[in-house]
Amino acid sequence: MYKILKKEYLNPTVVRMEILAPEVSRRAEAGQFVILRADSDGERIPLTVADYDREKGSVTIIFQVVGASTEVLRHLEEGDCLSDFAGPLGKKTETEGRKCVAVVGGGVGSAIAYPVAKKFFSQGTHVDAIIGFRNRDLVILEDEFRKASTELHLMTDDGSYGEHGLVTAALEKLIESGREYDEVVAIGPLPMMKFVSLLTKKYNIKTVVSMNPIMIDGTGMCGCCRLTVGGETKFACVDGPEFDGHLVDFDEAIRRSRMYSDFESEKREETCNLFKKEVE
Ligand SMILES: Cc1cc2nc3c(=O)[nH]c(=O)nc-3n(C[C@H](O)[C@H](O)[C@H](O)COP(=O)(O)OP(=O)(O)OC[C@H]3O[C@@H](n4cnc5c(N)ncnc54)[C@H](O)[C@@H]3O)c2cc1C
Ligand code: FES
Repeated sequence: MYKILKKEYLNPTVVRMEILAPEVSRRAEAGQFVILRADSDGERIPLTVADYDREKGSVTIIFQVVGASTEVLRHLEEGDCLSDFAGPLGKKTETEGRKCVAVVGGGVGSAIAYPVAKKFFSQGTHVDAIIGFRNRDLVILEDEFRKASTELHLMTDDGSYGEHGLVTAALEKLIESGREYDEVVAIGPLPMMKFVSLLTKKYNIKTVVSMNPIMIDGTGMCGCCRLTVGGETKFACVDGPEFDGHLVDFDEAIRRSRMYSDFESEKREETCNLFKKEVE
């Protein structure tokens, strides 16, 4: 059983949990993920390793409450245990040899981008972190990014905090100012990663995106997480989750991500009602 050592809300729908999982912590690297179940009847939830502490034997996850399973997870408290916590899965982020990078995070994708920025920065790479949120209330990890970047550009769509505008505007401004990036890493909603990739293609800058399609087994067996990359079928769980953004078929990934939306909203409503009844 995997004990929750710490739990805190980073904004009203984003939760950070530190989990005791020494075997996972020992081998975890930036870019990898775990698949957990809150209880033994629960659905498998893939979540990125947001941080790890090898001495303590802990792994930190940061998740947005979007549906039934993350709703169940958020109701667990410090001292409770998760039923499963398998990982680390997927390939680690390649960071060696990069001198100057931009790490771009959108919304809760910033939680996935944070360990990547931290890894680059710790090896002496110049890191421009560009993180974007819809508004001030949704901002997460500002202090953490300040410590893990050379420059932080915090953007809000409505201008209620930081700079006004989208992450692509900040990135283009930096490129136009003469920054010579070895690589751009973009992690966030599919349309955001698509538009970052279109922008960097114009400037011929290598771009890595982290793809989060629906996953089931996480071992390359079920085929659920398939994507088309450079005309070939790839499985995000074993070939990724990071891929060359200039080769990913984003339109197909967007269509596939919407396949179960009706079922998912019904299930979330059912779960919320269940918790409401428990409180009454
Ligand atoms: C490799 C990987 C890393 C991820 N890392 C993070 C992270 O660090 N933080 C975070 O908030 N979210 C992350 N996600 C997304 C997270 O797994 C889903 O938000 C979660 O599974 C939703 O489950 P639900 O039942 O609450 O919502 P549902 O109502 O079932 O679904 C809501 C949305 O979540 C996505 N989703 C649902 N089930 C899965 C599944 N089995 N696999 C992948 N996506 C699913 C779909 O896009 C869906 O539309 C990651 C996904 C993958 C594949
Ligand atoms: S989750 Fe089954 S093949 Fe990737």
